[in-house]
Amino acid sequence: MKILVTGGLGFIGSHTVVELQNDGYEVVVVDNLSNASLDVLDGIENITGMRPFFEEFDLRDKAKVRLFFQKYTDIEGVIHFAASKAVGESVDEPLLYYENNLVSLINILQELKKRRKGSFIFSSSCTVYGQADEMPISEDAQVKPAESPYGNTKQVSEEIIRDTCKVCPMLNAIALRYFNPIGAHPSGKIGELPIGMPQNLVPFITQTGAGLRAQLSVFGNDYPTKDGTCIRDYIYVVDLARAHVVALLRLLEGKNDSDYEVFNLGTGKGSSVLEVIQSFERISGKKLNYEIIDRRAGDVVQAYANTTRANEILGWKAEHDIDYAIKTAWEWQTRML
Ligand code: UD1
Repeated sequence: MKILVTGGLGFIGSHTVVELQNDGYEVVVVDNLSNASLDVLDGIENITGMRPFFEEFDLRDKAKVRLFFQKYTDIEGVIHFAASKAVGESVDEPLLYYENNLVSLINILQELKKRRKGSFIFSSSCTVYGQADEMPISEDAQVKPAESPYGNTKQVSEEIIRDTCKVCPMLNAIALRYFNPIGAHPSGKIGELPIGMPQNLVPFITQTGAGLRAQLSVFGNDYPTKDGTCIRDYIYVVDLARAHVVALLRLLEGKNDSDYEVFNLGTGKGSSVLEVIQSFERISGKKLNYEIIDRRAGDVVQAYANTTRANEILGWKAEHDIDYAIKTAWEWQTRML
């Protein structure tokens, strides 16, 4: 069975391609290499013994998307990762984010609409909840006005998919709202590859531990939390990748309860920034050089998932804890030195 994975050379995309191939799917990756490297194909091939089909183009190009679907008439499902994801950059370049994240999505859905049957998995984010009123956050929590254009693209994308499914009886979709994905494949052959200065906590920690960065800045320790730093739900990337395979199968087998479903993907456990640092220090045996600085604009105080719906309805559960995820991230970092 042939599956299209857009953004399949990115961090979460590449781990999902591995899990799909391990389960016997044939994968076609589309990636414009804007934030990924061709070497990732070697990593995937090394792990699975199989090289996915690869097409390099930009999904904003409607004509190319159409040609792609004319060439691959036997695509049975689509997992759509391709999107820009830096919150700060989206504030400076809103049009880039709206164009890249929304036009690509619309182009794909327009092609799927022409087909007899379509199964579509969307890469969404807990960012749609903003600062939720209650912890842990369930899927029924209110979607709050987005703090950034990036967050808004996720909200609007979900609405576009939901509205399209309503009028296309053959199209079924699942939006997966990720909490904070971290870690690397246990083989050490694929992992997170931030270009330039990492924006996210764990790659910044591992790069600081490896001596590539002088110091980690911790953004604020005066939040109303146990140690004053923000709380997040850090989920191991291979667990997250597995959830995509489970969600896809749910659609392919017609086990979905409605044409558009939403699931949180997290561990259900919140960790503070200082706890993540302590985990890194335990795992690596190194002291991390960090200082507390001012809060970062747009950070929510805490976000961790109610995972009941994913556990009971999707039949998926995160299996690895934060120490394991940090261990794989550190192994990946030290391998790259
Ligand atoms: C955010 C978005 C998420 C998005 C991700 C992509 C929200 C709620 N979440 O995650 O949807 O997919 O960005 O980039 O909008 N921190 C430091 N020092 C650093 C980096 C981070 O202290 O150098 C802290 C942050 O203040 C935060 C935690 O570490 O408390 C995690 O930050 P980060 O990894 O950037 O992820 P989020 O902001 O949670």
